[in-house]
Amino acid sequence: MKLEQARAEIERLRQEIESHNYRYYVLDEPSIPDTEYDALFRRLQALEAEFPELVTPDSPTQRVGGKPRDGFATVRHAVPMLSLNNVFSEAEMREFCQRVADGLGVEESSIRWSAEPKFDGLAISLLYRNGQLVQAATRGDGETGEDVTANARTIPAIPLRLRGQGWPAELEVRGEVYMPIAGFRAWNQRALERGEKPLANPRNGAAGSLRQLDPKITAKRPLAFYSYGIGLSSETLADRYTGILEKLRGWGIPVCPEATTVQGFAGCRDYHERMLHKRDALPYEIDGLVFKVDDLQAQETLGFVTRAPRWAIAWKFPAQEVSTRLLAIDVQIGRTGAVTPVARLEPVQVGGVTVTNATLHNEDEIRRKDICIGDWVIVRRAGDVIPEVVRSIPERRPADARPFTMPSHCPVCGSRIHRAEGEAVSRCTGGLYCPAQRKQAIKHFASRKAMDIEGLGDKLVDQLVERELVQTPADLYHLQLEQLAALERMAEKSARNLLQAIERSKATTLDRFLFALGIREVGEATAKALARHFGSLEALMQADQTLLEAVEDIGPVVADHIVSFFAESHNRQVIEQLLTAGIHWPEVTVEQEEALPLAGRTLVLTGTLRRPRGEVKAALERLGAKVAGSVSKKTTAVIAGEAAGSKLEKARSLGVPVLDERGLDAILAQPESLESILKQ
Ligand code: IVH
Repeated sequence: MKLEQARAEIERLRQEIESHNYRYYVLDEPSIPDTEYDALFRRLQALEAEFPELVTPDSPTQRVGGKPRDGFATVRHAVPMLSLNNVFSEAEMREFCQRVADGLGVEESSIRWSAEPKFDGLAISLLYRNGQLVQAATRGDGETGEDVTANARTIPAIPLRLRGQGWPAELEVRGEVYMPIAGFRAWNQRALERGEKPLANPRNGAAGSLRQLDPKITAKRPLAFYSYGIGLSSETLADRYTGILEKLRGWGIPVCPEATTVQGFAGCRDYHERMLHKRDALPYEIDGLVFKVDDLQAQETLGFVTRAPRWAIAWKFPAQEVSTRLLAIDVQIGRTGAVTPVARLEPVQVGGVTVTNATLHNEDEIRRKDICIGDWVIVRRAGDVIPEVVRSIPERRPADARPFTMPSHCPVCGSRIHRAEGEAVSRCTGGLYCPAQRKQAIKHFASRKAMDIEGLGDKLVDQLVERELVQTPADLYHLQLEQLAALERMAEKSARNLLQAIERSKATTLDRFLFALGIREVGEATAKALARHFGSLEALMQADQTLLEAVEDIGPVVADHIVSFFAESHNRQVIEQLLTAGIHWPEVTVEQEEALPLAGRTLVLTGTLRRPRGEVKAALERLGAKVAGSVSKKTTAVIAGEAAGSKLEKARSLGVPVLDERGLDAILAQPESLESILKQ
């Protein structure tokens, strides 16, 4: 491609990517699927790699760059970044409105207010020179802040260049960097799973992320941005504040869709009422509302007191973090057996709701947060999520406070509680037997890839368990026609069919049965490997950690889960009952399997194949191969069909051989020639 041609295409791609960003972040109307967006992005990256002289700092590919710094430079704000005075009640708000009216010499009800949420994040000032983002600074003390340009550039909602035309040569956009609740939760979920320190709340998340010295770290954090005004501007933009917001929106700057105008105190009160109800449903946290006199001339008349404007006010909401006493710690057993410590609290109002319980996540978190029974603690709730204990207040610790110890047995079923090596979560080991895990265990047991009981859907399992007809999977095999026919939405004919399906499921295979038991981290592939390796249920049940780890692809964690599962006498009882009920399988001959041409090989299928994937998988498995769901260094080869995505990329990055469907055909025809097929 010629340079000029490349230049044109690069510019076209940039504009297209920017217009998708604009639709996504400003209009909140995503227009293309992520995969298509990614394809545009990759195309741009490829072209820029080929023509490095065409890379410009405002290209969407250039958001992350540069090295970690030693510290932040300071930036002097040309126009100081002010703070807001607060009110906490309707009466105070009414007074404020009257004061403004008096100051302007007008009727209170004649004032038009701009009304918008008070975002709980970190204030930032973005300087655009000739439409290009040239500097981003934190508020600091209002006079000087820190230069966080490299970090701000990584926030996808902040445009690197302004859209359209008509922007002033110099424009300072002011607003709040925040962490959306969904991103915050996902981030913390991952952190907890990895045993890393979670973020205390979205605001700390936003502030901490923006002040990272390494912009690569900021880039990984889920941050967003809403503008609420301007600082310096080389031109007058409008005569109303909301007029400015409209202009900003047109130039690609995200403005909160909740921002609006209201009339007089009555309008402010209605908006407050409305937003208070809406608060929990918003995808970001707000700690109140901000009302600003919309008329910029009137703003000027009113002026400032010390560091806050007389024309604006923050009407704060009830706090979402408060302190209270932690009276006791119980544990709750989740549907998958995860044991969650729960704090019983002295009832307290948080964000307008009475809270009596809050999650403590897991044992390590309790230790990390230094929480004892009897402590004063900070509790937070936000949105519809379960309230959580953020930390203790050690300065207020009573003398009789005592530490928490994880119970050794499940409070629901009495089975042992076990925490696998290297895992943050403790679990009840009574998988098949524990009432807390009952529905989940039975649904999994009956599912298609497990015992394949046709017609036993989730709703039916719910009914069977709720009516106490079924307590463990073994009870399925003792159900009577009359019992089933009496269930909701169950005619006699379907009851009969279900009984037949249950009967049919008795003839199964060892690997299906093992998978059906729902042992943690024993998926289909592992169940197959176990069946092949041990040949019989008895042999597997007797295997210890070392013997299990000898099985291909089974590491210490999975081995530990298997050992704990069979060590639990309640589970052994249920297995016994299942076998007594008549579940059986053909014998597995161990040697024969190992002699198969693809024994010991792991293949991964990805993309769209011409034949049904299940069929291909079965054919490969008949030849002894393991067909895995994800690519690792141990993968023998990846078979990629049309539109293969991340697995293909992973294979390439790991140097795992990749075959197309022709390669697949060759393997199926001549599995013993695998080596030479891979070399082609
Ligand atoms: S206006 C002259 N509007 O609140 C007024 N501030 O206490 C300047 N904030 O540092 C601020 N949402 O970080 C304004 N819709 C909003 C806001 C908002 C959050 C924060 C901002 C500022 C602090 C002032």
